[in-house]
Parts: sequence; C-alpha cells; structure tokens
Amino acid sequence: MISFVTIVWLLLGIVAAEDGYRAWLRYAPVASSGNYSSLPSSIVLLNATRNGPVSTAGRELQQGIRGILGKRVDINETATGSPAIIVGTAEAYKLVYGDFEEEGELEEDGYYLSTEGRDIVIVGQNQRGALYGAFDFLRRIGQGNFAPTSHVSNPHAPIRWSNEWDNLDGTIERGYAGTSLFFQDGHRATNLFRLTDYARLLASVGINGIVINNVNANASLLSPENIQGLGSIANTFRPYGVRLGISLNFASPQIIGGLNTFDPLDPKVISWWSNITDALYASVPDLAGYLVKANSEGQPGPLTYNRTLADGANLFAKAVKPHGGIVMFRAFVYDHHISPDNWKNDRANAAVDFFKPLDGKFDDNVVVQIKYGPIDFQVREPPSPLFSTLRKTNVAIELQITQEYLGHQDHLVYLGPLWKEILEYDLRADDRPSKVKDIVSSERFGRPLGGFAGVVNVGSENNWLGSHLAMSNLYAYGMLAWNPSLEPQDILQDWIRLTFSSDPKVIDVITEMSMKSWPVYENYTGNLGIQTLTDILYTHYGPNPASQDNNGWGQWTRANKHTIGMDRTVKNGTGNAGQYPPQIASQFENIETTPDNLLLWFHHVPYTQVLKSGKTVIQHFYDAHYEGAAVAQTFVKLWESLKGKVDKERYEEVLFKQVYQAGHALVWRDSINQFYYNLSEIPDQAKRVGNHSYRIEAEKMILNGYKTYGVNPFHTASGYNAIVTTSNTTTGTATANITFASGTYDLAVNYYDLYGGKADYEVSINNRTVGKWAGDLEDKLGHAPSIYLDGHTATRITFKGVNVTRGDTLRILGKPNGIEPAPLDYVSFLPPGIVD
Ligand SMILES: *[C@@H]1O[C@H](CO)[C@@H](O)[C@H](O)[C@H]1NC(C)=O
Ligand SMILES: *[C@@H]1O[C@H](CO)[C@@H](O)[C@H](O)[C@H]1NC(C)=O
Ligand SMILES: *[C@@H]1O[C@H](CO)[C@@H](O)[C@H](O)[C@H]1NC(C)=O
Ligand SMILES: *[C@@H]1O[C@H](CO)[C@@H](O)[C@H](O)[C@H]1NC(C)=O
Ligand SMILES: *[C@@H]1O[C@H](CO)[C@@H](O)[C@H](O)[C@H]1NC(C)=O
Ligand SMILES: *[C@@H]1O[C@H](CO)[C@@H](O)[C@H](O)[C@H]1NC(C)=O
Ligand SMILES: *[C@@H]1O[C@H](CO)[C@@H](O)[C@H](O)[C@H]1NC(C)=O
Ligand SMILES: *[C@@H]1O[C@H](CO)[C@@H](O)[C@H](O)[C@H]1NC(C)=O
Ligand SMILES: *[C@@H]1O[C@H](CO)[C@@H](O)[C@H](O)[C@H]1NC(C)=O
Ligand SMILES: *[C@@H]1O[C@H](CO)[C@@H](O)[C@H](O)[C@H]1NC(C)=O
Ligand SMILES: *[C@@H]1O[C@H](CO)[C@@H](O)[C@H](O)[C@H]1NC(C)=O
Ligand SMILES: *[C@@H]1O[C@H](CO)[C@@H](O)[C@H](O)[C@H]1NC(C)=O
Repeated sequence: MISFVTIVWLLLGIVAAEDGYRAWLRYAPVASSGNYSSLPSSIVLLNATRNGPVSTAGRELQQGIRGILGKRVDINETATGSPAIIVGTAEAYKLVYGDFEEEGELEEDGYYLSTEGRDIVIVGQNQRGALYGAFDFLRRIGQGNFAPTSHVSNPHAPIRWSNEWDNLDGTIERGYAGTSLFFQDGHRATNLFRLTDYARLLASVGINGIVINNVNANASLLSPENIQGLGSIANTFRPYGVRLGISLNFASPQIIGGLNTFDPLDPKVISWWSNITDALYASVPDLAGYLVKANSEGQPGPLTYNRTLADGANLFAKAVKPHGGIVMFRAFVYDHHISPDNWKNDRANAAVDFFKPLDGKFDDNVVVQIKYGPIDFQVREPPSPLFSTLRKTNVAIELQITQEYLGHQDHLVYLGPLWKEILEYDLRADDRPSKVKDIVSSERFGRPLGGFAGVVNVGSENNWLGSHLAMSNLYAYGMLAWNPSLEPQDILQDWIRLTFSSDPKVIDVITEMSMKSWPVYENYTGNLGIQTLTDILYTHYGPNPASQDNNGWGQWTRANKHTIGMDRTVKNGTGNAGQYPPQIASQFENIETTPDNLLLWFHHVPYTQVLKSGKTVIQHFYDAHYEGAAVAQTFVKLWESLKGKVDKERYEEVLFKQVYQAGHALVWRDSINQFYYNLSEIPDQAKRVGNHSYRIEAEKMILNGYKTYGVNPFHTASGYNAIVTTSNTTTGTATANITFASGTYDLAVNYYDLYGGKADYEVSINNRTVGKWAGDLEDKLGHAPSIYLDGHTATRITFKGVNVTRGDTLRILGKPNGIEPAPLDYVSFLPPGIVD
C-alpha cells in the first residue's frame, strides 16, 4: 500500500537544508518496513474538541506519517469499518469499541499505544495523554522502529514544567539564544507563531506546564493589558496540553496595586491577590498556577513582615485553590550577605535551615521547588538535603537546561548523566530506600503532588537554544521527567536519530562526544567538588576562581596558600553533612568515605592531600585540566568525521562551536592551573603548568601602536599580560623573529573578543598573509557578553599547516574597533599533533 515510498522520496530528506528549527520533530523520511505496508490510511479522532490535544494528535500524526513514510492519511470524524489509527481518551474509546487490552492502569496524562492489531490504537487517560501516545508512535516510526508494540506508559510525576526566565522588556535572564519569544517592550510579543512550535516540542516530550516569565518577576505582568496578553499566549499552548503558569512578584500589591503593604496576612493584600487571581483565571481558565521566588537575592517576600515563607506560599495557594491551581514555591532562599569570616557560615545550609521548621505548614497545593544541589546548578553538587528533610510537604526538583554555569551552550555539556545521577541518588531517609526520583514523584513520602521544573531559556535563534547539540538537554529533560529510569545514553541516541540521522557513524560520534562532555567540562572547569570555578560576580561563564571567595554570596572555596575546600563536617565545619540522613551524613562526614569528586565540597584539605587515586589534590587539578582540555580537542576531529553525513548548515554550525570550545577549554585549563600554581607554589610534576615552549607572548614582541596590558584576572592571560592598541584609532603591529626549527606548524593566536567592537586582525609571515579575522564572536556565539579582557573573552584562532623557516618574521596587525583594542595574548607554533 505504500509502494509509492520511492527512492526519490528517501533522497529528498537527506540533502534538505536544515537550520535546527524542527529539532527532533523533523519527521524525516526513513526506509519503510514491510510491517507498515498495511498502515491504515485514515485516522479516527474520538470526540475531538476543536483545538484540543486529540485534534492536535490527529494533525501531528498526519504530518508525521507524511514526512516519515511519505503516506497520506485522512482524518475521519467518525469510525467506519476499515482499519484506522484510532485516537482518543480511554473514556471515549470504550464508548465506541468497548474495553481495550491494557496491561496496567492508566494514570493522569498516561496513554496506551498498540500497533499489534489491525487498528493502531492510541488511547490517553485524558486528551493530553492521547497526544503523548501519538508522539510516542511518531518517535518510533521516525527512528525506523516498526516492531509491533502494545504498552501503557504513565508519567513518573504529575508536574513536568518548564521555567522560562523571560523579562517583559524582551531580554532573557541567562538566555544565550536571542531575545524573548513571549515578551517585548513590556507587553506580550506581537508575533506568537513560534510559540505553537515550541508547544509542540514541549508536548512531544511530555511537558505539561510552562512558566513564561522570570522568577525575578516584574509586577507589571499583572496589568490588565498583560493579563489579556497571557490569554493569547495560553491559547497557543492549550492545543498541546501545555498549561500556562506565571512567576509573581511578591510585592505586587504595593508596586502596582496601590496598597501600602504586601504583608501576606493583611486582609487588603489577601483580597487584592484573590481579585488578581480571578482576573487571571478569567483570561486563562486553565492557568496551571504560580511560581514564586521570595526573600531571595533581593526579591521581596513574607520575611519583610516577619511572616513565614509558608505564610507567603499559602497566600497564593488559597487564591488559586478554588480554580484548581498550584503554587510552586522556590526553596532557593538564602542570605547573600553572609560573612566568610565565620568558618561555620554556609549558604548550602540555608534551604534546610529555612524550610525544615515549616514542614507540614504548607497548604496541599503548594509544591516546594528545590534546586538539585544545595548551591546553584554547579558542575557537580550532592543532592540537596532538603529532599530528605521535607516529609509533609510536596516537593519538585529544579533542573537547569540552560547552561548557566556549564558553558552557556557554547560548550557541549550533555546533562542527562548529571540529572540521572541526582535522580538515582539514594538519600536513605529513615535508613530506607529514598531515591531523589521517588521523593519528587511524591511516592516516597506519600504526598499528593510532586515533580520536575526545568529552567530552559529558548530564544529567537532559529535553533531555539543557540546550539544544535544543546537541544539534547531539552529532550532529555522531558524524557527523564516522564521516566527517570531511562538511561541517558538511550535517550540521547533516540534524540540523535530523530534530530540528525540513523547512520551508525553519526550515532557513535555524537554519543561519544555527548557522553564524555560533562566529565570533560568538569575536568577543565572545577573538579573534586570545588564547583564550577567561574566568575560568579559577573557572567558565570569563563574562569575566575578568586570571585568565589571573600564575598557574601557563599560559593566559597576557602582556598589559601596551603589548603582548599569547604569544611562542611559536623565535627569542625559548617555542619552541612549533618543535614543528610544518618547513613549519608556519616559518609560525607568522614574524609575516607567521601568520594573524590565531592572531596572539596565537604572537606577543607591541604593541596597535598592524597586522593583515592593516589594523586595529590593539586596534581589532580593539573592533570584533570590538561586531560579535560585535551579531550575537548578531540571533539573537533570527531565532529569532522561526520562531514557529508550531516547537512551542511548544521555541520558547519556545530563545527564552529566545537572549534571555539576546544580553544576556550585551553583558556580554562591554563587559567585555573596558573591560579593554583601561583597560590600554592607547588609545581606540576609533569612540568606543563607555566612552561609553554611553543608560545611567543605578545608582550614580548616588538610593539608598534600596541602596548602591554596587565589582564585582570591575571591568570586569564598567558604570562599574566596581553597587548592592546595604544588608542582606539591606532592600528598596532606586533613583530617577532621566529626561532623555531623550520617546518610545518599549526599557528594558533590567542586573543580577546570583547562585546562592543569588532577589531580586524591579520597575521603574516615575511609579509605573506597567513590569515585574517575579525573579533566578531558576539555575532556568532550566544554566551553572556563581557566588555573586558578576561576569561570570558579569551579565545583562540588556529591556522593549520603553516610553513615556517627559522628566522622568518611573524607579524600581527591589529586594527581596533569600538571598545575592542585588538587585544592579543600569545601566538603558538604547534608541531603536528601538539596542542599547547
Ligand atoms: C475515512 O473516510 C473515507 C472517505 O471519506 C472512507 O473511505 C474511509 O473508509 C474512512 N475510514 C475510516 C476508518 O472511517
Ligand atoms: C466528549 O467531549 C465532551 C466535550 O469536551 C466531554 O464533555 C465529554 O465527556 C466527552 N465524552 C467522552 C465520552 O469522552
Ligand atoms: C515485523 O513484525 C514481526 C511480528 O509481527 C516482528 O517479528 C518483526 O520484528 C517485525 N519487523 C520489523 C522490521 O519491525
Ligand atoms: C517592569 O516592566 C515595565 C514595563 O516593561 C518597566 O517599565 C519597568 O521598568 C520594569 N520594572 C523593573 C523593576 O524592571
Ligand atoms: C476586590 O474586588 C472586590 C469586588 O470587585 C472589591 O470590592 C475589592 O475592593 C477588591 N479588593 C481589592 C484589594 O482590590
Ligand atoms: C519579628 O518577630 C520576632 C520574634 O517573634 C520579634 O522578636 C521581632 O521583633 C519581630 N520583628 C518585627 C519587625 O516585627
Ligand atoms: C577546623 O576549623 C578551623 C576553623 O575554625 C580551621 O582553621 C581548621 O583548619 C579546621 N581543622 C580541620 C582539621 O579541618
Ligand atoms: C578527567 O581527569 C582525570 C584526571 O586526570 C582523568 O583520569 C579522566 O580520564 C579525565 N576524564 C575526562 C573525560 O577528561
Ligand atoms: C630578528 O633577528 C635579527 C638578527 O638576529 C635582528 O637584527 C632583528 O632585530 C630581529 N627582529 C626582530 C623583530 O626581533
Ligand atoms: C615586509 O614589508 C616591509 C614594508 O612593507 C619591509 O620593510 C620588510 O622588509 C618586509 N619584510 C620581509 C621579510 O619581506
Ligand atoms: C608546506 O611545505 C610542505 C612540504 O614542504 C608542502 O608540501 C606544502 O605544500 C607547503 N604548504 C604551503 C601552504 O605552502
Ligand atoms: C574612541 O574613543 C573615544 C573616547 O572614548 C570615542 O569618543 C570615539 O568614538 C572612539 N572611536 C572609535 C573609532 O571607536
């Protein structure tokens, strides 16, 4: 019946240009299977309401089957006799066809999918479930998986939300992929068409709620006009079963309500919120609820009035209760002015300190939303001890798809394995199995609600996250929230087949890169549990370990000349280890039983402390940074091996990012190693740190129109110095005699690419131009901008296979532009196979 699935059709998809917009919903053609030769040619939608998820499922199946199999299927309103793809709720199905064979009960949002019989049956517990079943079917055939199946699939937890951090003015907090799709100039965006496609992406991985505005919320969201706007946005998500939620500013009654207070127990305030809530539900009748960040990082909250956080949460809970809404209340409450002088101060203790006394005091429709670790989305943290502390409170886990501390989507970091490790972590509450995944599902402590919140900041970039490969994180988030027992590598490989190709080589390469990416990033940023050693006071991107300490933010490393690490023991430190249930507490209390990868999270030790691996802490630092940066270089070669196997556009865009990451990994490596060598004065046993025999430092060259510049932080420049042009209109040259042996080299130039200028550069040897480039990464990368010479802007460009004769003259010409004074750090002449 599908004999018209011709070679021509199959070829079409392979060469089609791709910009990543369709992500994993490309519905690209696959070689069809005999088993589907009898695929029904019509879809029957049972009791479908216009624009309801069942109707959406019908359209999606039609589109998907056309793309994947080249087959046209009609949508019929009513069933006739012939075989069909039957889609509807269980209730509707039973009315028409009677009982269906199912193994296991359908739970909320769950579905039953059967392709074994004459009909293909897709039945949801509710309409949303039917849509999820349709996406399951399409995921299968989209990967060429035509094996007959008959199964029930239920979500692990009822709450599976995304949290967007979009601001009303159209910017996005921690967004690295353009501007907001939801808001512009203080209002909802005028063009909402992309929201439909975003809703498809979310629904296709089982996400059923979206909070569209920043947790640092602007009270103007609640203006009458914006409340109307929310109605339009909700309308675009509703056909996909994705319910809208919003973040609230706790002080709204005062900021926009004209009241002189926002005390949560004040009757005027209660009445104000109740009125606003009614107005919101009039505009968005199925509003999922509110998300609240209170008394955190300067946000207003109930503590202002000496009320408890529970008083604050319950205020909203009571307002949304009559409408069936819920309140997600963030546990990210801490004092960001704590004194580092007190050895026992610890931000990691804050969540338990604040929330433990409130356990049992929250209304039943409040869910405390807990970041996975006690600090803030670091490259490695233990699970938050709050998960095992709250027994009488609903909880959800907050994960971050946005790579805030993990390379801003310019470094590849596949997060499935990180999340999996946390979700599978057994906290041993009451000495019983207490995996984080079973706590947040509400199962372990028998709560009515629980689930997942994933911070994801899609923007106006065509490919949603600004990086093709980063989209695996959005996919994996949805998949793990639906079923945390899945293996991250299996999830990844489904995603690869749907996003790129089923070619085994493509699968192998992207799997290898992605599965190594988190350990690699951990190795060259911050290892042994010291946290991501990034600039916490500025953009959270490049290296700056000193920024962690000696301020009130509490992301301390407590590094000094001899020792490093947070002493979180009960016996001598902050007591944080004692916030865990006894089995875990004693493991972390004891240095012998603390795993190496969390050693510095829990213990303050000398740099010469010997790890389980037999290395000292400092030597591990050096080795791991070298190892991690070296593996990052291999990602470029791996990706290049896919040339011709991935469409040109995505191939080039990914290659660009991998080359960039390889260069920035070296910046990280050298910066962190220089910093700790400078501090500890303990040399690298392998003699790499501080010895760079292939380099010519820019400040050592003969400068004309250039001057030496002491970079801050110092360790983000090789030799601590760079050069900048003497003025913003002077073209500079830096010249040097090449004293390396004659031969062929890869010529690497390390420079700084500032936001706010596009300097031009030219490198030549004996007046022969080797290459030219512009400092225009601000147009090509998504990471948060910096206007300084620092670890965020430091970068590398490499020219391969350059022939050099000893005594040749190297010259770099830099033409400043805007605020960018054509800054240069060093040049490396790298013999084949060497990266320095
Ligand atoms: C769908 O409708 C077409 C014509 O409108 C009809 O030929 C076909 O049998 C119908 N299929 C089902 C399953 O009802
Ligand atoms: C059919 O849809 C209507 C309107 O959405 C709903 O009230 C009714 O319960 C549905 N019937 C069945 C059998 O699902
Ligand atoms: C086709 O179906 C049969 C059983 O009906 C199954 O054994 C076989 O694996 C299927 N073939 C493919 C290619 O899925
Ligand atoms: C809130 O949004 C309005 C409208 O865009 C803007 O005028 C105001 O400055 C914003 N307030 C804050 C605190 O950002
Ligand atoms: C809430 O609405 C009621 C009825 O419209 C009104 O009487 C009351 O003043 C409102 N309260 C506040 C605080 O706006
Ligand atoms: C807050 O409550 C505490 C203890 O109940 C009390 O000592 C303190 O004076 C109160 N502060 C204010 C501002 O009401
Ligand atoms: C114990 O704590 C003190 C600070 O109170 C600290 O200086 C010392 O290094 C700690 N001792 C150990 C063994 O960690
Ligand atoms: C990380 O660094 C350690 C220490 O050098 C090394 O054993 C490990 O293989 C590295 N892993 C990766 C993925 O770079
Ligand atoms: C290069 O070396 C020659 C001879 O040693 C010397 O005269 C010249 O000044 C050097 N040029 C540079 C740019 O260092
Ligand atoms: C390069 O050009 C400059 C002038 O443009 C000249 O003075 C110099 O000798 C040339 N150098 C070489 C190595 O040709
Ligand atoms: C560099 O030298 C090698 C060997 O002499 C030669 O094969 C190659 O073509 C040269 N490359 C360039 C760019 O001149
Ligand atoms: C150079 O800097 C001056 C003073 O900061 C500024 O007025 C001028 O516009 C800049 N020129 C360029 C070309 O950026």
